[in-house]
Amino acid sequence: MQVSIRRGRESDMPALRDILNHYILNSVVTFEMVELSLENRKTWFTQFSETGRYQLFVAEEKGFVVGYAASLRFHQRPAYAPSVMSSIYLHPQHTGKGIGERIYTELMENMKLAEDVHRVYGLVVLPNPGSEKLHEKLGFQVAGVLNEGGYKFGEYHDVRMYEHRLGK
Ligand SMILES: CC(C)(COP(=O)(O)OP(=O)(O)OC[C@H]1O[C@@H](n2cnc3c(N)ncnc32)[C@H](O)[C@@H]1OP(=O)(O)O)[C@@H](O)C(=O)NCCC(=O)NCCS
Repeated sequence: MQVSIRRGRESDMPALRDILNHYILNSVVTFEMVELSLENRKTWFTQFSETGRYQLFVAEEKGFVVGYAASLRFHQRPAYAPSVMSSIYLHPQHTGKGIGERIYTELMENMKLAEDVHRVYGLVVLPNPGSEKLHEKLGFQVAGVLNEGGYKFGEYHDVRMYEHRLGK
């Protein structure tokens, strides 16, 4: 298996839309509730750059995009600007093979290089053993739990907030 990690491109948006829509419809790992359109993803893509706070990486295998990791705006209030929120989703047939660790490591290395990022927050709907393990392995600490912080598929769900203090 040859998986390469590279910057995301606009042409990756159909694949990323399909990956995320799978989790939107079939799981609570994301609190998005409604399928996303390609137009929505193309607009989403315009926020990314190679050196700024918001960056996008994808994993590619045999020419197919099998997952992504991104840094996104954490909160709209301006004083939160040096804090970003991370997001990572792999195609369901490509989990548990080390791709998540590789792509998240690439994102975090670039967050350390980005001058104006101070904190990275990962919000994990519990339970999610793969994501919990990944955050802990990459040096995130538990910042707290949002007790029943979200409501999806007729139930409330706890959300653990992980933080990475980038040391700068
Ligand atoms: C969460 C996710 C990104 C993890 O990526 P991954 O490629 O599956 O994980 P990796 O193979 O890199 O494994 C990283 C570590 O987590 C562990 N792990 C992975 N899946 C696991 C699971 N289901 N249960 C327990 N541990 C797990 C691995 O063993 C590894 O630890 P180790 O090196 O000590 O053995 C991926 O599974 C995914 O996209 N899941 C669905 C979407 C999702 O939940 N996104 C995150 C939302 S917060």
